[in-house]
Amino acid sequence: MRHLIDPTDLTVKEIDEILALAEDIIAHRAKYSEALKGKKLATLFYEPSTRTRLSFTSAMLELGGQVIGFSDANSSSAFKGETVADTVRVIRCFADIIAMRHYKEGAPLVASQYAGIPVINAGDGSHAHPTQTLTDLLTIKREKGHFDNLTIGFCGDLKFGRTVHSLIKALSRYTGIKVILISPEELRLPDYMLHEMADNSNLEFREVRTMEEVMPELDVLYMTRVQKERFLDDEEFDRVKDSFVLDPEKLLTAKKDMIILHPLPRINEITRSVDNDPRAAYFRQVENGKFVRMALIYTLMKWADENKPFEHTPVFNEEYVMSDELRCPNHSCISTTEDVDHIFRKGSDGVCRCAYCEAKAK
Ligand code: CP
Repeated sequence: MRHLIDPTDLTVKEIDEILALAEDIIAHRAKYSEALKGKKLATLFYEPSTRTRLSFTSAMLELGGQVIGFSDANSSSAFKGETVADTVRVIRCFADIIAMRHYKEGAPLVASQYAGIPVINAGDGSHAHPTQTLTDLLTIKREKGHFDNLTIGFCGDLKFGRTVHSLIKALSRYTGIKVILISPEELRLPDYMLHEMADNSNLEFREVRTMEEVMPELDVLYMTRVQKERFLDDEEFDRVKDSFVLDPEKLLTAKKDMIILHPLPRINEITRSVDNDPRAAYFRQVENGKFVRMALIYTLMKWADENKPFEHTPVFNEEYVMSDELRCPNHSCISTTEDVDHIFRKGSDGVCRCAYCEAKAK
């Protein structure tokens, strides 16, 4: 059974096929209007969402399918203490495919082990957001025409920004990509990501502290919100919350064909006066999200019918070890609150990392 938990669950070829399908859906909407007639999507959202949940809903409806689910964990039996594993074993009796958002990192991975139907990670804590990545890739493809040899600046909260983590992983498989990480010290990309990037000879990257110093180089500027809900300390959030504000003056030195992306929601990191700049692609990006989710749901349902195996990075292959001695120290990880197998993967740096959230094992 194929799931989408991490962007690397898909090969580059599979991603290209999903993006091509999304473009065909855009060009021939009517052709797909009954493609999933009689099928049901369950949207299990334990954390707030506007774009992701509603674009999944809209995507399934436009494919002729139906949607069930919840948008608030407190209106489900999670409020009474039901585990993710038990919840999805119940949901499989009612639906054909699941899109899950959870505040606990690794929750969709746990769901995929028990659901028996395809599970899509719709965002897990600060960890990953692979369908936003497909959205971002489709937007880059439609706006720039290609992925290779692009210089992409990621600006803002790179520590908690799951969309950044997933998009960097996906882009690092294309050639000639240059990544510029623009953040305050407190919001740097997590260690495991920096290690992976350092190991990847395909990818060039550097860290800077201001967007002004790199603006003329960028083909894509990926802005992010400082994720207030992930901070344990209000004072620390207050210190960094206004670190970067993109306004028309800062764009004066940018390339004429640079594009500005943002997964949204935006707070104050892009001023309203930027919205009318033709380079501001973030609302076009939202619309692409619906089409690429249509392509993804369609593809995963087709693969489920064909019983298609993984071609790349099986979720638990021989690189993974189950251990009673190692523990994940990340309090935001599902393995610290639910009774799950403690599974780790030894990276090329010799460090064992939690399979659910990629934190260093203790
Ligand atoms: N981009 C994104 O995930 O938005 P929502 O939180 O509104 O779903």
